[in-house]
Amino acid sequence: MLTRVHHAGIVVRSLDEAYRFYRDTLGLPLLEEAEVRDQGVRAALLDAGPSEVELLEPLHGETGVGRFLARRGEGLHHVCFHTPDVAAALADLAARRVELIDAAPRPGLAGQIAFLHPRACAGLLVELATPPATEHHGPASPYRLVRVVAGSRDPHGSVAVLASVLGLTATGTKLVAGPSVVEVLAPEVAGGEGLSALGFEVPDRRAIVERCMGAGIAMHEVGDEIVIDPRLAHGAQLRFRHPA
Ligand code: CO
Repeated sequence: MLTRVHHAGIVVRSLDEAYRFYRDTLGLPLLEEAEVRDQGVRAALLDAGPSEVELLEPLHGETGVGRFLARRGEGLHHVCFHTPDVAAALADLAARRVELIDAAPRPGLAGQIAFLHPRACAGLLVELATPPATEHHGPASPYRLVRVVAGSRDPHGSVAVLASVLGLTATGTKLVAGPSVVEVLAPEVAGGEGLSALGFEVPDRRAIVERCMGAGIAMHEVGDEIVIDPRLAHGAQLRFRHPA
């Protein structure tokens, strides 16, 4: 039922500041921006086909996203999976007594959306989305978001829970959803507990290095990856590598 990671959501202090990095420096095309009053956010989706990056700026402190920002600072907040029918997916989850935040779909930036409770998802906040039939398509992104990384003290256990709840396949400590994987690693490797990093495939690593150097964004190499520190990327560690 879940075909891919639709987007990874990052809570930011200011959408305009986050644009300067994600849109202007990295070059991710902005697809859509809107105020989602229901969630108390101004939100934007940027293309990183097959998935997107969602930026969330709280409208005020008394919202889930506002409290997240006050407590944890900027950073990865949730992972959203695409499903062709969010209502059917919710009915199936409810029938299996999976704890939900939303019993029924509601409109979000990505279409009809619903959140599962982190208690049901190994501590991760998981969203499901069914985009409108006429999903926006802009200029192609130079990067492909193919990996979302989370830290857990029990990576195998966490992936097994996620695979069972979401009906996805687990391969080692990776949860596979079409072209996307959610990889769960020990917190020391992941960079903390919970959602921590995004992995992109990029045809030419030099292009990203040049863009970041031009903007004074430091990078370092870890194995075959170029890594941008979370402090420079609004709380998400970013990893870039050539396609395998
Ligand atoms: Co979202």
